[in-house]
Amino acid sequence: MSQHENIHKHVFSITKQHRQALHGHKSYILWFTGLSGSGKSTIANMVEARLHAKGISTYILDGDNLRNGLNEDLGFSANDRKENIRRIGEMSKIFVDSGIVVLATFISPYANDRKDVRKKVKTDEFIEIYVKCPIEACEERDPKGLYKKARIGEITQFTGVSAPYEEPENPEIIIETSQNTIEECVQQIIDYLIDAGM
Ligand code: PPS
Repeated sequence: MSQHENIHKHVFSITKQHRQALHGHKSYILWFTGLSGSGKSTIANMVEARLHAKGISTYILDGDNLRNGLNEDLGFSANDRKENIRRIGEMSKIFVDSGIVVLATFISPYANDRKDVRKKVKTDEFIEIYVKCPIEACEERDPKGLYKKARIGEITQFTGVSAPYEEPENPEIIIETSQNTIEECVQQIIDYLIDAGM
């Protein structure tokens, strides 16, 4: 017998629609995926500032930060990354239900794990942003010195070096951080949101 059989969902009076009405805007997930050093957190930080200035309630869920708390028990095997993304997906769904715009910045290297998150919310509530940058450029930037450590084997299972990264096939937005300035990338995302009526 599944333990879920004895769990019954409560339906509360205040719904997502009520909360969205109170906030005065839609709630959705901006899902940033890309290699370490591609610029996910930097871009999300600036997008959040732009949204915040417009009176939009936001929250950033970030890989490094969450791995210091909620996901401190997880490493970088394919299974652990899957669980990492599953938990963040569930959290993101809760945030969307609460009426908030979530900016999630995770390498999220596996296409299936990202698809699983997409399925948790409505079609227009998941906006996948591929932060595209050649690994050579990420490695050149190497802001945390992690590529250097990965190359000499001090870090194993490092995305792009000793672990895979599956490029998104059909993301809503692709930003190319080695071709465009950060401001241009941020503007591209803001323009998409305006066009989409978000
Ligand atoms: S994942 O793949 O989505 O579960 O990873 P994520 O939660 O986004 O965490 C990525 C950050 O962890 C640091 N780090 C590593 N990344 C990739 N591979 C390995 N082996 C690894 N070890 C540590 C690194 O700082 C990543 O942050 P970003 O911001 O992407 O550079």
